Amino acid sequence: MNKKFYINNRKALGKMMKDNSIAIIHSGILFASSADENYDFEVNRNFLYLTGINQEDVILMLVKGNNNVLEYLFLDENDEVYVKWNGAKLYPEEASKIGGFNEDDIYFTEEFKQLLHFILNPSRKNFNEIDTLYLDLERRTDLEYRNWVFQFKDRFLKDYPEIKIDNIYSKIVSLRQTKTSDEVEEIKKSVKTTKVGLEKVMENIKPGIYEYQAETYFDSYIKWDGNKPHSFKTICASGVNATILHYRDNNSLIKDGDLVLFDLGCHTNCYISDITRVYPANGKFNARQREVYNEVLNCNKKCIEFLKPGVTWKEYNDFANSLLIASMKKLGLIKKDKDFRKYYWHSIGHSIGLDTHDPSIYNRKFEEGMLTSVEPGIYIEEEGIGVRIEDDVLITKDGCINLSKDIIKEVDEIEAYMKENNIYLKK
Ligand code: GLY
Ligand code: MN
Ligand code: MN
Repeated sequence: MNKKFYINNRKALGKMMKDNSIAIIHSGILFASSADENYDFEVNRNFLYLTGINQEDVILMLVKGNNNVLEYLFLDENDEVYVKWNGAKLYPEEASKIGGFNEDDIYFTEEFKQLLHFILNPSRKNFNEIDTLYLDLERRTDLEYRNWVFQFKDRFLKDYPEIKIDNIYSKIVSLRQTKTSDEVEEIKKSVKTTKVGLEKVMENIKPGIYEYQAETYFDSYIKWDGNKPHSFKTICASGVNATILHYRDNNSLIKDGDLVLFDLGCHTNCYISDITRVYPANGKFNARQREVYNEVLNCNKKCIEFLKPGVTWKEYNDFANSLLIASMKKLGLIKKDKDFRKYYWHSIGHSIGLDTHDPSIYNRKFEEGMLTSVEPGIYIEEEGIGVRIEDDVLITKDGCINLSKDIIKEVDEIEAYMKENNIYLKK
């Protein structure tokens, strides 16, 4: 992403801040997994959105007074020994280039407390008196025990009880909800890699291998194609396993006659794809599988036609429900509408962006630049059939574009692709 993107994001957030306020946003910390190993670092996406910096323990501070916003960034200083063991962290000039910061506004982390004290100390008149501190407190209370910001908040409350603390999370989220064309381009790259990864799956899957083996055809491709991380843990669910929404075990043997559901994606600079496709392990859908599949596909396609600016998330969800209810009746699964939750219990979609389930203000209507997944499903445990078909859709000025339209999903297309390209069917 161009540094102008991050400059603009900070400007937009600055406009939303009250005068005489300060915002402190932390990139996140490294968590120990065991002994001296750490989990892979996951940057706070709100921080990334404002800075472009994907590194632990970096702090962004915005100070607003007289309707002017000052920016400060705090980085760990590189330590000679650390660099020898682990390589260097970002140097100020690098951070400045990535996020469009003025180099004079970049400090080392150890100076953070002192500068904060200087800004908040009312006896100094270099700054207006601050009455509000914004922190990114997110919405997940279960993060509290491990999050830098909650510890900071507790300390701060003791030191400055007169300053009001406000959660800036929903302000950043509302900015993130509509995407720029550059952000959409990143998502398109992820979708493209996912498309080829799914083709590798169709080319190599067969009955008699384990789900975790089938999964590797996707995993190795996203690694190959730019070392793209997963959007989330790949779901490879055969037969009845596909009726578990977030199946994660991926350890069953794929049987002849099984449908196999792949719900997966990768990210490009943290912009994700989230796609679900269902393939017959032996290359052919049986009659019942085809029937169920086509009902879900019908809902998927009609929902994509339905999406445009002005539609509410509730209307979108209700529309999908009504189609799936009609399908379930047709398939002989239910008689009464209210019973449809037995075979479908999630919602039709969610925002996507820097997160798979991108935080969003869901009472906002669809607007140009928003992205949603479209993911209807029908899960029939007693028949061992689970079908979900998921695409990633961009809302445009007067409708929408399906960014994953090139990932084949018609029964005939899938069967033809497998017949022609699957290494076992070709023999
Ligand atoms: N894989 C999670 C989702 O589709 O929402
Ligand atoms: Mn998904
Ligand atoms: Mn999804």
